[in-house]
Amino acid sequence: MQIVSTIADLRAALQVWRSRGERIGFVPTMGNLHAGHISLLSAARFRADRIVASVFVNPLQFGPGEDFDSYPRTPDEDASLLQGAQCDLLFLPTVLQMYPQGNAQVTRVLVRGLSETLCGAVRPGHFEGVATVVAKLFGIVQPDVAVFGEKDFQQFTIIRRMTQDLSIPVEVIGAATVRAADGLALSSRNRYLSASERSVAPAVYAALRAAVQRIDTGDEDYAAIEAQGLQALASAGMRPDYFAVRDAHSLEAPVDSARDLVVLAAARLGRARLIDNLRATRR
Ligand code: PAJ
Repeated sequence: MQIVSTIADLRAALQVWRSRGERIGFVPTMGNLHAGHISLLSAARFRADRIVASVFVNPLQFGPGEDFDSYPRTPDEDASLLQGAQCDLLFLPTVLQMYPQGNAQVTRVLVRGLSETLCGAVRPGHFEGVATVVAKLFGIVQPDVAVFGEKDFQQFTIIRRMTQDLSIPVEVIGAATVRAADGLALSSRNRYLSASERSVAPAVYAALRAAVQRIDTGDEDYAAIEAQGLQALASAGMRPDYFAVRDAHSLEAPVDSARDLVVLAAARLGRARLIDNLRATRR
């Protein structure tokens, strides 16, 4: 696996593969990699000849008072995990390499509507930071296919919409959420949980399952399903940001004809903010 930290070196490496007609798959991350990230590389492998991963803790997507400074940075462990997952190239840029004009001056990408609801309502500017860095990474890598985790369902939806709206020629693929045995979705931020917090954290998945079960039986009282979910998270000792039944395409409240639904939850537990979601089909 090659490791490069400048855009020029990355482009030089990609040029060799592209001239041979090889398909490039891309997996962007913020590092501190776990089995969820590695599953994205496997999904990319199916669809591309060469796999590029990036590790970049993007300052643009962190709000004031969020964990940009303390976000876990483990580049050596990340590199050996990626090597083991048959990654061909790791792009490890500095903040200066990505934003030479400084963070404030950079051109921004805003996916209106989708970025303002759910996590976007609680973390203003977050998805603008995500869309901006992903658009830039797409411009740098020019991948044929890029893989994102459905664990961050709103992020995945925003990036798919952005590539359509801006006619970026990349196929955006979603990969299923990887969970611990007790149902907790794997996340780099789970390390913020104390042992007792970790033991109650699977309550998010349990509440989502309960909501999906109600929808599966034909229950369409989404307000009641959301209230039950919020109650379940609060009873587990969490401070929920939202528990919402939404149309899986628009992320808006489902209209009568909507069949593909998604139940999304976000809740604070100690220092951590847990997010998760499950798909559901209206009968
Ligand atoms: P990060 O949180 O490192 O996640 C990188 C990718 O891994 C995302 O597509 C995310 O959805 C996926 N992922 C994380 N946990 C997962 C799990 N348990 N199962 C499956 N996939 C999982 O998301 C970001 O970084 C950033 O916002 C980024 C897109 C890189 C832009 O900075």
